[in-house]
Amino acid sequence: MSSYILRREDGMALPSAAAGSHVDLHLPNGLVRSYSISNANKDHGTYRFTVAHNPDGAGGSMYLREAVRVGDTLAATRPKNNFPLTEQAPLSVFIAGGIGITPFMPMMAALNSVGRRWKLFYCAKTAETAPLRDEVDQLASAGFGEVTWHLTGQPGARRLDLKAATSAAPEGAHFYCCGPNGMLSDFLSAASSHGLPPDQVHVEYFANETEAFTEGGFTVVLHRSGKELLVKPGETILDAVEAAGVQVPQSCLEGLCGSCETPVIEGVPDHRDVVLSERDKQAGRTMMICCSGTKSQRLVLDL
Ligand code: FES
Repeated sequence: MSSYILRREDGMALPSAAAGSHVDLHLPNGLVRSYSISNANKDHGTYRFTVAHNPDGAGGSMYLREAVRVGDTLAATRPKNNFPLTEQAPLSVFIAGGIGITPFMPMMAALNSVGRRWKLFYCAKTAETAPLRDEVDQLASAGFGEVTWHLTGQPGARRLDLKAATSAAPEGAHFYCCGPNGMLSDFLSAASSHGLPPDQVHVEYFANETEAFTEGGFTVVLHRSGKELLVKPGETILDAVEAAGVQVPQSCLEGLCGSCETPVIEGVPDHRDVVLSERDKQAGRTMMICCSGTKSQRLVLDL
């Protein structure tokens, strides 16, 4: 695991970033990877990323370790927040799996600064290898937070009981989970078994395991120009839109970062991203066109 501090070349402060934000780093090898900002907003206009170097990952973390050196220049997007904190909740419950602790660091710091209570369930193999362990303890020592360690590397260790972790909270508590996909789906099932309101349950994914919609055979209308595009099999909507010469912000190309979110004027999207909440997916007012498709024959997009 390593931490990287990103600062502007000209020494000016980077824009402030709300707790839970991420930045997309454009790596020189062509990869674009999203990293949560793991330092507090008040840390003098710099962003810190804390990265677990995973040889089985998509390649970004290993590239950072092997090819990026102190003083190198990297292109990065402005911070984007798909995982916002509700500061006024009477209690915020965080559930972190390993490197999933990163977005919670600025959240816990923000709650400390407004004197709001939080609880953290931190799952890691061992306390020694848990990312940012000392800082987590420091945040808890401010008196507003409480940390429960769940160490899976110990003999006889069992999985965290997510049903118990998501129960016994005051009305209005918000729950947040960031970790491997299996943990996130167990967390969502536990939250729904308690009938927690969806607006109070938040997840952030590392990876999107849902396949992109590339069946094709439908029409996309670009409302602003009136262009009608036939999306062919093997193409995403974004592919077809770009082939028509229309530029759309994009980054991860897998429904994780939210950059390509596009308003839907007519039609029923078939959502394949992990950015929008279930409520937003049902409302169907926007969609991630890098991976999502349609349940209707025709989609009219505000492009
Ligand atoms: S480019 Fe990241 S969600 Fe579409």
